[in-house]
Amino acid sequence: MQKENHHRPQMSHSTEIERLVEATADGSNTLFIPGMNEHYHSVKGALTEAEHIFVNMGFQHSPTASPRILEIGFGTGLNAFLTLVAAEKFRRKTSYCGIELYPLPWETIQKLQYSINPSLHSIHSTSWEEEVQITPYFTLQKIQADFASSSFSFKQTIYPPFDVVYFDAFAPEKQPEMWDSQLFERLYVNMNKGAILTTYCAKGIVRRMLQSVGFIVERLEGPPGGKREILRAIKP
Ligand SMILES: C[S@@+](CC[C@H](N)C(=O)[O-])C[C@H]1O[C@@H](n2cnc3c(N)ncnc32)[C@H](O)[C@@H]1O
Repeated sequence: MQKENHHRPQMSHSTEIERLVEATADGSNTLFIPGMNEHYHSVKGALTEAEHIFVNMGFQHSPTASPRILEIGFGTGLNAFLTLVAAEKFRRKTSYCGIELYPLPWETIQKLQYSINPSLHSIHSTSWEEEVQITPYFTLQKIQADFASSSFSFKQTIYPPFDVVYFDAFAPEKQPEMWDSQLFERLYVNMNKGAILTTYCAKGIVRRMLQSVGFIVERLEGPPGGKREILRAIKP
C-alpha cells in the first residue's frame, strides 16, 4: 500500500487533538476525531465490536493457556480492559502489550463511562513503558511509540513472541501507513507458530496482503449488528 502521512493528525501531543464522545448503537460510547473524520470504534457498537473481534475471536480462540497479547492502537484501553475481565474469569495468566502513539488522558476515558471497575483506572494510571501487574491474571506493558516508524523495535517490549495480536489501527483510508505489508511482516516474525491476528478490516486488499506475508486468513462473521465480516489471520 502506498505510504502517505497526510491523514495523521499533525500534532505532537495527544491533548491537542480534538476528540468528541459519541454514543454507538449498542449504547456504549466511543471517541470521534473531527480532524480525521474517524471513530475509535464501530458506530454500530463499540463494546460489541471489542468483545466479538478481539476477545472472542482472538483471546478466546487462542489455545495458549497463558497468552502474550499485542495490541496495535491501545487507544481507550477498552480491548485491554475486556481482556482483563476475561483473563480473570477464565483464570488465564495474560501478558498484554499495548502500543499507542497518542496516549489519552484519564479525563477523556472517564467521559466514556465504560465501567466503574477499579481495574480500568489501574490500566490507565500505570506508568508507560513498565511491566505492571494489574490483577492476579493480567499484566500490562503500555508502550508509547509510533508503530509505523522504521525505527520501531520490539526490543523495547517484553512479551514477544506474541500468541495473539489485536490489530486495531484507524482505517486504511485514514491511516494507510499503518496497513503497510512491512508492518505485518514485522508482526509475523514476532508471533509464535499458531498465533492469531484479528482485525475489524475485511477489505480484500488487506486480506491478500496478510496472505502474501504468510498468514492463513479466515473471513469470519462480524459483530452482531455490525460489519458483515472481519478477518482472523493465523501464522502457520
Ligand atoms: C481505532 S483506534 C484504537 C481503539 C482502541 N483499540 C480502543 O479500544 O480504544 C486507533 C488507535 O491507534 C493509535 N495510533 C495512531 N497512529 C499510531 C501509530 N503510528 N502508532 C501507534 N498507535 C497509533 C491512535 O491514537 C488510536 O488510539
